[in-house]
This record gives sequence, C-alpha cells and structure tokens, in this order.
Amino acid sequence: MDRFFEDNPEDLEAIVTLLKKGRVVAVPTETVYGLAADALNVEACRRIFEIKCRPLIDPLIVHVYDRAQAALLAQLTPLANRLAESFWPGPLTLVLPKKPLVPDLITAGRPTVALRSPQHPLLRKVLKISGLALAAPSANPFSCLSPTTAAHVREALGTRAPYILDGGGCTIGVESTIVDLSVPERPVVLRPGPITADALQAALANTPVESAIVSVEGALARKDEGVGLPAPGLLSKHYCPRTPLFLLRPGVLPPKASKGSKIAWVRLERTDLPCPAVEGVETHPLSERGSLAEAARNLFGLLHQLDARRYKAIYVTKLPNEGLGTAMNDRLKRASSGFI
Ligand code: TXA
Ligand code: MG
Repeated sequence: MDRFFEDNPEDLEAIVTLLKKGRVVAVPTETVYGLAADALNVEACRRIFEIKCRPLIDPLIVHVYDRAQAALLAQLTPLANRLAESFWPGPLTLVLPKKPLVPDLITAGRPTVALRSPQHPLLRKVLKISGLALAAPSANPFSCLSPTTAAHVREALGTRAPYILDGGGCTIGVESTIVDLSVPERPVVLRPGPITADALQAALANTPVESAIVSVEGALARKDEGVGLPAPGLLSKHYCPRTPLFLLRPGVLPPKASKGSKIAWVRLERTDLPCPAVEGVETHPLSERGSLAEAARNLFGLLHQLDARRYKAIYVTKLPNEGLGTAMNDRLKRASSGFI
C-alpha cells in the first residue's frame, strides 16, 4: 500500500521489515532523499535501477551507520580513516577499494565502492535498528532534479516508490561531496558538495587534494592502475528540470520574454529588478538573507516549483564560487543548456 511513514516506533519497525524483505524504500538524508535497499541483496538493488530508469553502468552509494560497518565493505585506507573521523556522520562520500562481499551490481563492476555515513537522525535510526548497509542513490528519475522533500519523491516517482519515510525537508539540500581515495595518497574530489575542498585539505594536512575538474584526463590516464573513470554523474547532463535552464554570469540580465510568455530569473538574493528593460521576467531569490546555506536548502525545491509553472525558460545567476556556492554551481552547470 502506498503511504508515507513517519518518526514513530511502529513506522520505523515497518520500514526496517520492508528493507529486510528486499523492498525499496525512499528515505530522508541531510542532503537529498535517497531510494534505499539492502546493499547485499542484489535483486533489491536491481529494483532501484529499474525504478529510477538508471543505467546499470552508474554505481550506487552505500550508506553505513559507522566506520566499523564501512570496514566490512571496503578497505579503509589511512586517509579514509582521517576523513571519516573528521566528517562522518555527514555529507561526505568516500570511494574506496571494495571487499568481495559487495555485489558487482552496486559498483557497476568497478573495484571500488562509494560509502557514506549519513547524519539524518531518522535514517540513522533505520541503519541502527536494521543493521543493514543501504544502497541509496538520490530518489529521482535518472538525470532529473533531486528531491529534498517526501512530496518531491512522490511527485517524481509516484507508485513506483510506494514506501516513503518522511523526515521533513533536507537540511543541507545538495548532494554529498564525493572523494575518490582508491589510489592511496591521491585524494580526488569527484563531486563538489557541502564539505568543501578547503575543509578536506585542512583535514588531510600535507596530502594535496585534487579536483576531478582538472583531473578527468588524469583519471583516464590512471585507468591502467585499475582506478576507472570518475563518477559517471560528472560527465553527463544531470539534475535537469523539464524547462530549459541557462546560467547567467553575474551582472548579465536575462533576455526579454517573448509576447505571452514568462521567464524566471533565479538569484541568490532578493532584488528590486526586473527593471523595465526586462519585460516578462519574474525574479525568485534563493535566500532572502543572501545566505548560501539557505540557498542550498531551497535550490532544488525552487527549481521543482518553477518547473511546474510553465515558464519558457529559467535563468539562474551563477553563485559565488565559495562554500556551498561551488556545489550549487556544479549542479546548475550540469542542469543547464548553456552559459550566457
Ligand atoms: O548526498 C548524496 O550523496 C545522496 C544521498 C541520497 O546520500 N546520494 C546521491 O547518489 O547523490 P547518486 O547516485 O545520485 O549520486 C552518486 C554518484 C553518482 O554520480 C555515481 O556515479 C557516483 O556517485 N559513484 C557511486 N559509486 C561510485 C564509485 N565506486 N566510483 C565513482 N563514482 C561512484
Ligand atoms: Mg543523483
């Protein structure tokens, strides 16, 4: 039966029973909602790919309660221990050499597995009570906008995802930072996120942290070392609304809307614009206070809303490249049809 489950002992028990039976359940995390199944149950995980229409070449993140559980699934290198100690539970995913126990379906045949210990209290209860490791990609159809509320999951996946654990709005709002640690002493950020490159660098002291943006070629070259390609989500178009989305350089105005149509203009802060020069343009601030943390929390929710409003196009002014702004710019760049 389709239903929302909540934070009470009966509902949590029911969710744990469903997961143990090999069912797929949408769960809240502090970043975005995930579509979860028992990571060691291959058929349950296959169903995640089907529900999302996700190609089997795109591996899944596995959520664990703590480092001890992570160590059952992957080889925790010294750098991994250091990062897990600094940032777990939290929005950091570590790509590590996998142990044989982890099914190849989850890792898309790679020798590595992506692990994260999430912070959301409700998901932590599920992980603790069940004792399961949970494979969970974001709970959206492949390449669409990520969900930050239970309602987003229901709207996007309908009865394909009948069981949803409602943990309220996600407090961070953009997906975890992914760091590839499969080559010892060479950490590479595959996806920028809430844990910034500076924070990683501070935790790793003298070991330089690379970014996949400069290291895609490097990662390709390292294929011989058994590392493989960086996160597939990095290379393809992703996080897309149905409405065409364009990024604007700061200071550039969106174009005038053609007669009878409207354009949405998303900016970090509220503004007195549009000035008369930009007819048919409606502005939408991501944060009344101009806070990047609030903007990240609102980003996917606002894009979901605007996507439902029949705008001809959505223009988003690029955010400052600092803190969560870097992660948001990354998602927006991959959601966009171009940069103006
Ligand atoms: O915050 C998050 O990370 C959320 C929540 C639900 O935890 N999850 C999430 O999952 O964003 P997903 O599947 O939408 O994005 C995970 C990315 C994908 O681009 C996938 O290709 C990459 O992680 N990935 C997974 N396993 C990998 C591996 N072994 N090596 C490289 N990339 C991997
Ligand atoms: Mg995703």
